[in-house]
Amino acid sequence: MANKFMNWVDDRFPATQLWNEHIGQYYAPKNFNVWYYMGSLAMLVLVNQLVTGIWLAMFYQPGAETAFGSVAYIMRDVEWGWLIRYMHSTGASFFFIVVYLHMFRALLYGSYKKPRELLWIFGCLIYLALMAEAFMGYVLPWGNMSYWGAQVIISLFSAVPVVGDSLTQWIRGDFVVSGATLNRFFALHVVALPFVLVGLVIAHIMALHHVGSNNPDGIEIKANKGADGHPLDGIPFHPYYTVKDLFGVGVFLILFSGVIFFAPTFGGLFLEPDNFTAADPSVTPAHIKPSWYFTPFYAMLRAVPSKGGGVITMFSAVLILFILPWLDRSPVKSIRYKGIVSKVALTLFAISFVGLAYLGMQAPADWVKLWSRIFAVIYFLFFLLMPLYSKFDRTKPVPERVTG
Ligand code: HEM
Repeated sequence: MANKFMNWVDDRFPATQLWNEHIGQYYAPKNFNVWYYMGSLAMLVLVNQLVTGIWLAMFYQPGAETAFGSVAYIMRDVEWGWLIRYMHSTGASFFFIVVYLHMFRALLYGSYKKPRELLWIFGCLIYLALMAEAFMGYVLPWGNMSYWGAQVIISLFSAVPVVGDSLTQWIRGDFVVSGATLNRFFALHVVALPFVLVGLVIAHIMALHHVGSNNPDGIEIKANKGADGHPLDGIPFHPYYTVKDLFGVGVFLILFSGVIFFAPTFGGLFLEPDNFTAADPSVTPAHIKPSWYFTPFYAMLRAVPSKGGGVITMFSAVLILFILPWLDRSPVKSIRYKGIVSKVALTLFAISFVGLAYLGMQAPADWVKLWSRIFAVIYFLFFLLMPLYSKFDRTKPVPERVTG
C-alpha cells in the first residue's frame, strides 16, 4: 500500500528523488565532530523562532499605546504565554550562540575556501538578515531599551553624507522614533525578513549539497570514490547523521530548557532590566547598550572618535567577512594542517571578538576605549594580513584520506 502510494506521488512530485539527494543518499564525510552539530541546531532554532513567533503574533498588539501592555498580557494572562515568549526571547540569544559557533567552525576548517565560496556568502547574508531580524524584534516590546536602542542605531544612518538625515527619517517614518517606526518594524520582523531568512537558508543548503560538506581535515572526499561511485570516506546522511544530530538536539534542548525555566533573563543578558519599563521618550536609560550579540560591533563603534568613522568601522567589520574566501591564500583548508602563524592569528582573533563583546557591554570609560581600540585593530589585522601570513606560513602535509 505504502509503496503504491509513494509511486503515485513520485509520478507527480519528485519526493523520493529529493529525499535521496538531500538525506538518504547524501554522502557526508565520516569524520564530523561536535562543531558539525551547529548547522542542524541553527535550523531547529529557526523553526522554534517561526513557530513561537506565530503564536506571539496572535496576542501581540503593535502600536505605541498597546505594544508594551500586550506583552505584559502575554506574560501574565495568556495561557502558556510566558513559555512561548521566553522560548522566543531565549531562542534569539541561542540563535546567535549557535550561529557564532557555526561560523567559527568554518574559520577553523577553512569551509569558506573553494569550492564553498557561495555557500559562505549565503551564510554571510543569513548573518546580516539575522541581525536585522533581531534588531527589529527587540524594538517590538516597546520597552525603554527598545525605544532608545532604536533611537541610537537608526540615528547612525545620519552619518551617511548628503542624504543622511532624509535616510533616517525614511527609516523611522517620522521625525522621531514613534508608533510609525514600531509598526513598520513589526511588518518587517514578522513577514518580510522571515521569508528572506528561510529563502537564504534553502539556498545555503542547496549550495552545500551541490559541492558537498567540508570536514575537520579539510579533505575533498569526492576525490576518493569507491567502485559503487560513493566517496570512500563518506557515509549516507540517513541514518548516520540523522541519529547523531538527534543526540545534539537532545543536549541542546536540555540547555535551552534550563535557561527558559531557571534563568530566562540570564542575569539581564538575554532580557535587559531596562526593557521591563515602558518606552519613555523623556527618560533616557543611564547606559544604552544593545543585546549581547551586537556588542562586539558596538564596542568598535564607540572606539572610533568620529561618528562617521565609527559607523564605517562597524559596518566594515561585518562586510569584510564576505571577501574572506579570497583573503585566505593557504594551500590547505583545515587549521590542523596550517602553520603556527595562522593558529596564533585565529586565537587572537577569537580573543579579540569575545573581548570586544565584553567591552561593548561596559559603561563608557577610558580603559574600555583603549582595549576596544586594541581588539578592533587585531580584529581587522586578522583579515587584512591574511593574504600574507596564510601564503607564507609553513603548512603540514595533508593526508590522502580523512583521519577521524
Ligand atoms: C539560519 C542560520 C543558518 C543555518 C540554518 C545554517 C545551516 C547549515 C547546515 C544545516 C549546514 C550543514 C551542517 C553543518 O555543517 O553544520 C551548514 C553548513 C555551513 N554553513 Fe551554515 N547555516 C546558517 C548560518 C550560517 C552562517 C551565518 C554562515 C557563515 C557566515 C554559515 C556558513 C556555513 C558553511 C561555510 C558551511 C559548510 C561547513 C562545512 O562543510 O564544513 N552558515 N549550514
